[in-house]
Amino acid sequence: ASEKPAGEMSARTLAAGKVHSNQFWWPDQLDLSSLRNNDPRSNPYGADFNYAEEFKKLDLKAIKKDLDLLLTQSQDWWPADFGNYGPLFIRMSWHSAGTYRTLDGRGGSDGGQQRFSPLNSWPDNASLDKARQLLWPVKQKYGKRISWADLMILAGNVALENMGFETYGFAGGRQDDWEPDIVYWGPEVEMLASDRNEKDGVLQRPLGATHMGLIYVNPEGPMGKPDPLGSAKNIRVAFKRMAMNDEETVALVAGGHTFGKMHGAHKPADCLGPEPAAAPIEDQGLGWKNSCGKGHSEDTITSGLEGAWTQAPTQWTTLYLQNLLNLEWEVSRSPAGAIQWVPTDKSMHETVPDAHVEGKFNSPVMTTADLALKFDPKYKEIAQRFLDNPDDYQKAFAKAWFKLTHRDMGPRALYLGAEAPAEALIWQDPIPPVDHKLISARDIRKLKKEILSSGLSVSELVRTAWASASTFRGSDLRGGANGARIALAPQKDWAVNNPQELDKVLTELKAVQENFNRSASGKKKVSLADLIVLAGAAALEKAAKDAGVTIEVPFVPGRMDATQAQTDVKSVAVLKPTADAFRNYFNKEESYRSPTEMLVDKADHLGLTVPEMTVLLGGMRVLDANTGGSKNGVFTDNPGRLSNDFFVNLLDISTKWRKSDVDGLYEGVNRASGKLLYTATPVDLIFGSNSELKAVAEIYAYDNAKESFVKDFVKAWVKVMQADRFDLDR
Ligand code: HEM
Repeated sequence: ASEKPAGEMSARTLAAGKVHSNQFWWPDQLDLSSLRNNDPRSNPYGADFNYAEEFKKLDLKAIKKDLDLLLTQSQDWWPADFGNYGPLFIRMSWHSAGTYRTLDGRGGSDGGQQRFSPLNSWPDNASLDKARQLLWPVKQKYGKRISWADLMILAGNVALENMGFETYGFAGGRQDDWEPDIVYWGPEVEMLASDRNEKDGVLQRPLGATHMGLIYVNPEGPMGKPDPLGSAKNIRVAFKRMAMNDEETVALVAGGHTFGKMHGAHKPADCLGPEPAAAPIEDQGLGWKNSCGKGHSEDTITSGLEGAWTQAPTQWTTLYLQNLLNLEWEVSRSPAGAIQWVPTDKSMHETVPDAHVEGKFNSPVMTTADLALKFDPKYKEIAQRFLDNPDDYQKAFAKAWFKLTHRDMGPRALYLGAEAPAEALIWQDPIPPVDHKLISARDIRKLKKEILSSGLSVSELVRTAWASASTFRGSDLRGGANGARIALAPQKDWAVNNPQELDKVLTELKAVQENFNRSASGKKKVSLADLIVLAGAAALEKAAKDAGVTIEVPFVPGRMDATQAQTDVKSVAVLKPTADAFRNYFNKEESYRSPTEMLVDKADHLGLTVPEMTVLLGGMRVLDANTGGSKNGVFTDNPGRLSNDFFVNLLDISTKWRKSDVDGLYEGVNRASGKLLYTATPVDLIFGSNSELKAVAEIYAYDNAKESFVKDFVKAWVKVMQADRFDLDR
């Protein structure tokens, strides 16, 4: 009876040939696609490509010279405002880097994601298709020696230098991606919509922008209202999400808007074609085709706001701050109808040279977001100080720009090229260079024995090594075992790390370390960072042996210990796992996704595949490595042995699962006797419930899988332990 008459289409019918994803049918089904994102097979350079080696061949001076020339060679197809593409390129760099957000480290310039949808078609990135097209001849000339990701940042630096600004430096090293990253950019289903406030008006985590399709905030003001104080509030939240404090925020907005202009010559709806992702094939990747007037130059439409902030938009000056602070501003509208502000002093209205029309002069303008820097008392104080001390302003902008554009590149050890600054900065999570002779294979054997006879249990050692290494996130290459920050604030105090037990383990390991270093010959030493990982290896070897499998866990020394002074407690705080499924830890208040989604998120940060995630989780359970020693998911009679029991018991039909009275927990009872056998969390049971995970869980439950399970576990474990070993050829 529920059948539809033949030929009648339901409103939800997709076009013929369109594949329905499982999330289309069952929106709650766990999505594993982020673990299959950026597959090496997508990389046209092939697996052997080494970008650092290619970059070494780049003549940085020569490419900078080419870029500098390009800035002032105006092209007829997209003539330069004021005869200089510099401001457009600065905006391109800023938007490339500005998607970065501290909470999950995603976004940012690494990867060159601005080339791909959705970012290439975000409303906020309008006209940046032209910027990248303008860069193409330089990209074509230097080929694989410079990535798009590096080129987009370098072009911004060259632009700043061309217009008289002294930058703080440039480091190469951003590798190009070849497909869009799978990133949660917000809940909205329409561009420019904003429906992302959590309760109490807090911007939904981990997002960094207030609207879908914007880098930060609505320039016209919150929800399009000319409310500079409200805008200041949003700016403060959004820039903090990008790791910028008030001073850096003022420097960046003021410094950035010293250059260039906004574009809103006509109403977008009357003139603009679709964005690149929706544009017809003959537009060849360009979008926003403008059918009004010339379609460019004085007819350009980008944001819909119109005008320049200063009287000299292609020179580094303090004019932005002078205008902002010394003039009074009133609300006005651009020709496109957008809200913006002009000086109340009419004599200012013809002081800015037009970008294209000879002899024409316009008014300086400000956005509501610019006026936030004047209305918010804290921002204003900083802006005034900058105006009174131009040198401080210059330095603050230079450093904030460097941070903005290098924030997601990881440690300084990864910086490439002669222009990388020599100074270490605290946000780079500095780790001292290796200053001692490394331990030998013999020392490793000796140390392992000592660790195992220290009285610490397998699970304590495994938990500690995991706690140390698993803070790593591939999104911005922060965290990891190197530096031994696990022994420092704030990591040593995180609940997920069992602070008391951690203290006990580290005290014991430090004793082993001191003992070794005191008696070692020559300049030989072992760092705590290495010892923690080595202890994990020793524990695994024992756990495997106890399960009847002999295996050597690969270990490569070379980590160093950071000091507390080298550690910015606030900045490291964002690495705190609010959930760590591998230790069966979930903080409901702090986690912004369900336990199973947080599992996938963590696995993604660690660069794990679906099989690696599966084998690691099952192994961690039998190793009894849960936070707080919880027994959830410990499906074995022999905890501490590296057996495949987790998978065997999970898939055993004689256990029947039901919801527990405790929220979020499950009970497994013997189907026949009703005896309670196990308790479990969703991240345990998902490996039996999700069909793709179950398929992998089965292979580890095979009767003859004991050895392959241990082998695969150790491989995945070592991958996590070495995730931050950028010095190793992995
Ligand atoms: C242009 C908004 C922060 C650099 C613009 C435009 C808007 C805008 C609406 C006009 C785009 C167009 O129509 O062409 C904002 C807002 C910000 C912000 C709301 C944050 C509160 C920054 C930062 C920088 C920057 C941090 C760089 C450090 C620029 C530059 C232009 C520009 C150079 C001129 C581009 C050109 O001349 O083509 N911004 N911006 N902006 N922005 Fe920002």
